[in-house]
Amino acid sequence: MEIDKGLKNTFVDSSSICFIDGNNSCLYYRGYDINLLVDKSSFEEVAYLLLYGKLPLKQEFDNFNKILKSNQNLPKSIKSTISNYPKNANIMDVLRTSVSSLSLHNNDYNNFEKSINIIGSSTSITALYNRVKNNEEIVEPLEELSYAGNFLYMLKDKKPDEFDSKILDIIFILHAEHEMNASAFSCVVTSSTLSDIYSSITAGIGTLKGPLHGGANEGALKTILEVGSPENAEDYVSNALKKGERVMGFGHRVYRNYDPRYIVLKKVAKKLAEKKNQLNLYNTANEIENITVKKLSGKGIFPNVDSYSGLVLYLLDIPIELFTPIFAISRNPGWCAHILEYTANNVLIRPKTHYDGKLDLSYIPIDKR
Ligand code: CMC
Repeated sequence: MEIDKGLKNTFVDSSSICFIDGNNSCLYYRGYDINLLVDKSSFEEVAYLLLYGKLPLKQEFDNFNKILKSNQNLPKSIKSTISNYPKNANIMDVLRTSVSSLSLHNNDYNNFEKSINIIGSSTSITALYNRVKNNEEIVEPLEELSYAGNFLYMLKDKKPDEFDSKILDIIFILHAEHEMNASAFSCVVTSSTLSDIYSSITAGIGTLKGPLHGGANEGALKTILEVGSPENAEDYVSNALKKGERVMGFGHRVYRNYDPRYIVLKKVAKKLAEKKNQLNLYNTANEIENITVKKLSGKGIFPNVDSYSGLVLYLLDIPIELFTPIFAISRNPGWCAHILEYTANNVLIRPKTHYDGKLDLSYIPIDKR
């Protein structure tokens, strides 16, 4: 018997969804390099690719897109429930609860239809709650806008420019899938009992919420804002490491080198910072990176996707509390793909623990203990 705590060396299945070459900074979805998908594709097409395992023909794509868009319109009762949530709720809690409640409406769908329903609804749920929370009118999605463009529109009640929409589209693509990470595993564990896909995605959202997983993008941005200027980076990182703290946005279970998503996002962050006249923030992030890599690369710690994703979202004027929900929105296609793939050849997931407690204890009545 060997205990593999954290399942660092356990393969739970074979999969044709995602390949990560952690030593060479490569990431593929269904065989396509993510750099190619970022340059040539869109989140909508990547969602199709992940769910169906191939790029769509024109008509397949048009049909998929139409259904996806129609799912951005939420049932009335969900809108009214979300409108009555407390204004100070954590938005990941709102998303988790609302995705769970979608099952009340769509139980007769098949799993592909439910997947598209979850992907379509998630942007609307998140944007709607954010507006309600700020006492603003709800904004309905527009037929003519892309998935990313519609999210920005529903958030801000203003049609976004092409540049901002494309950048958010890139964020969505880069977060769409990442092999058997903690949240994908949660989804698959739940599905392996043959529970429904809404329950599985609800579990995935709950798992992604943690600061060691999806929550790190908020932490990384807060660090950049707190450091404030490149010359403060050295002291900040040294002090954090002395106190045994983790520098958010660095380190990864699979990458022992630069995360390929970081490579894309760093370039995007620079372009955006130039456009928004915020180069000081980019330079601060860059200096935090230089110092952290200098101190930690010996341990295989390099920047991950979150080192610049938070900064990119911040420069798009997106509130910090939406960063992790945006990660969840993006990850839906990957989660759904894993659920569909695993359950097509299902085995109940039920690992063991090694018992190291006592045995044969005598029972002492409560008044004699
Ligand atoms: N800052 C400082 N030290 C670190 C960091 C960090 N960010 N990450 C790892 N280390 C150290 C860790 O203290 C340990 O040192 P030692 O061997 O001296 O005890 C060593 O590196 C190995 O760390 P580990 O925790 O065993 O590595 P892991 O593979 O279990 O953890 C991780 C991976 C992502 C949880 C960790 O690197 C971390 O906490 N990073 C910060 C949070 C973060 O950025 N998370 C986002 C991950 S990417 C998005 C996603 O896919 O969810």
